[in-house]
Amino acid sequence: YLNYQVPRTRKEIFETLVKGLQRLEYRGYDSAGVAVDGTHLTTTDTKSIAICLIKKKGKVKALDEELYKRDSLDLDEKLYTHFGLAHTRWATHGEPSAVNSHPQRSDKNNEFVVIHNGIITNYKELKEYLILKGYEFESETDTEVIPKLIKYVYDNRENDNITFSTLVERVTKQLEGAFALVFKSRHFPGDAVSTRRGSPLLIGVRSEHELATENIPVQYNSAHLKDGVQEKNSHNRPDSSSISSVGDSRAVEYYFASDASAIIEHTNKVLYLEDDDIAVVTDGKLSIHRLNRQAGEDPVRAIQTLQMEMQQIMKGNFDAFMQKEIFEQPESVVNTMRGRICFDTNTVILGGLKDHLKEIKRCRRLMMIGCGTSFHAAVATRQILEEQTELPVMVELASDFLDRNTPVFRDDVCFFISQSGETADTLMALRYCKERGALTVGITNTVGSSICRETDCGVHINAGPEIGVASTKAYTSQFVALIMFALMMSEDRLSLQKRRLEIINGLRVLPELINKVLSLDEKIKAIANELYQQRSLLVMGRGFNYATCLEGALKIKEITYMHSEGILAGELKHGPLALIDKDMPVIMIIMKDACYVKCQNALQQVTARAGRPIILCSQDDPEVSKNAYQTIELPHIVDCLQGILSVIPLQLLSFHLAVLRGYDVDCPRNLAKSVTVE
Ligand code: F6R
Repeated sequence: YLNYQVPRTRKEIFETLVKGLQRLEYRGYDSAGVAVDGTHLTTTDTKSIAICLIKKKGKVKALDEELYKRDSLDLDEKLYTHFGLAHTRWATHGEPSAVNSHPQRSDKNNEFVVIHNGIITNYKELKEYLILKGYEFESETDTEVIPKLIKYVYDNRENDNITFSTLVERVTKQLEGAFALVFKSRHFPGDAVSTRRGSPLLIGVRSEHELATENIPVQYNSAHLKDGVQEKNSHNRPDSSSISSVGDSRAVEYYFASDASAIIEHTNKVLYLEDDDIAVVTDGKLSIHRLNRQAGEDPVRAIQTLQMEMQQIMKGNFDAFMQKEIFEQPESVVNTMRGRICFDTNTVILGGLKDHLKEIKRCRRLMMIGCGTSFHAAVATRQILEEQTELPVMVELASDFLDRNTPVFRDDVCFFISQSGETADTLMALRYCKERGALTVGITNTVGSSICRETDCGVHINAGPEIGVASTKAYTSQFVALIMFALMMSEDRLSLQKRRLEIINGLRVLPELINKVLSLDEKIKAIANELYQQRSLLVMGRGFNYATCLEGALKIKEITYMHSEGILAGELKHGPLALIDKDMPVIMIIMKDACYVKCQNALQQVTARAGRPIILCSQDDPEVSKNAYQTIELPHIVDCLQGILSVIPLQLLSFHLAVLRGYDVDCPRNLAKSVTVE
């Protein structure tokens, strides 16, 4: 965060940093830290001040409190230029602790400090080398090699004219793994250098005009487009009208962040760095160059205007973001469909895919690849995709896909489903498929994310920012986006028209039916009251509702820490039946669809073993109700959309169970929102 020409007090800088961290807390939150430096201006002389470094184990709130305890810091001191760094850590190497949190430093004088998102895979070799050279390590992190290495390069510099960015370049060339890095140094006061490879990094640009009069939009010159970026990813760009060359001298504040939500309250003008870009702020000017710069090569990165609004990322009247996001689903599914389905003509057009439709229709198979909830969205829509596209459809967990070296061919079309667009496993699978020549399609919720940028085309699900670690509205929006894709593929298939129409009519009433399901909240809370002290919970179903079982069980385990398993009802007699007795809580999904009779058989098997199932069933189904311990009656919708309605009671149930068990719903232990390491 660099401010040039507009002095800020240290307190203001802390507040900006801490607020940014709070917005990012959902990505990882076992410890946090800040570092601030700056310069005083006395008419002709710029005096640097030492970097102060404050770190704390626990949530950002703990760090916030710590900042104001330090008597030695003058909070009202005005800094003319300054650069503050802040970081929340989710432990990968080394336990959560203040010393392992970031910024990591080169030495006790904080000559160089660094924050890092990602993983350094060759840190052991680097650490051994630096220890041999006499550098002492204080943390167990992989990151600490970076500030030590830059100090080593600085200590061994050939002359005193060496620039900060040259130092960073030399360090970056030695690093293997994935990283977004921001460096500061007391040798270069008020300046900063950042770079990335494999981890996201963006820069918010706040202009002089915005600082002076908050509401005047900035007119950037629109001459500089980086090759192809704009065109290739236009499906993912909400507003690409404001483009600027970097180094715009009118811009006076820069915000470096791994996610736009950290900076959106200061500016909505952002540019995304590419792998091996080196961004340097010196004397209030931002410049970007490539790591292996060729003479005359000066990349230009497009500045985009984000449409994210502050209130979207606030909790509103809800107790938790997850709860708010569950209740947003009537609107979020509409936002996914908006401008894409015409209910008058029954047409579906996904703008981001239409230019590739011919190629997709000619392909030999579709593959859907993702992790966790995003993978479940693939499982949920596989059957309807097979039916509407008449193509073989594979669904794959990204991590397993790579482990198996799955054969992929030029005539495959591979979908990468990811809320964050940054999941490392999914991103690696994407690169793997690209190398093999497949057409790659992104289904993401995060504009400008790595998956958006690296896929050939895609669909933005427009669910709005999802902050609760447990994914809810992104799942139902991914579901709807994939259904829309299926409908787009079957538009010219005469034999499928009746079915298509049935699905489009289902989508038309979907928001209203979601509202009806949400009105069951009190009943579900009462069921949670009966279940919350249990240790285990099985969720059973089949056909179009099997994905709901997997997703419901995932929600329960991740936020309630209860053991929960999603079971395909057809597999019951092949093993899980042994678990059933009067004490084992079982949830069964039995809807009036093609699997109804088979599901009733499973119900008989459960009740015959004294099981007491809670059944999610269609309204007015006395047959099923009479065998149930409890029922949750759901409105009827076309079979392939039923999974959207049946997952909501389980989202609500997991939420209430977690609250009753006394857990932090939005920040489940050991989990992070965006898993950017393999
Ligand atoms: C579960 C959950 C995770 C994510 C998974 C993939 O509630 O949130 O299982 O679904 O980590 O994340 P994305 O969709 O960001 O790729």
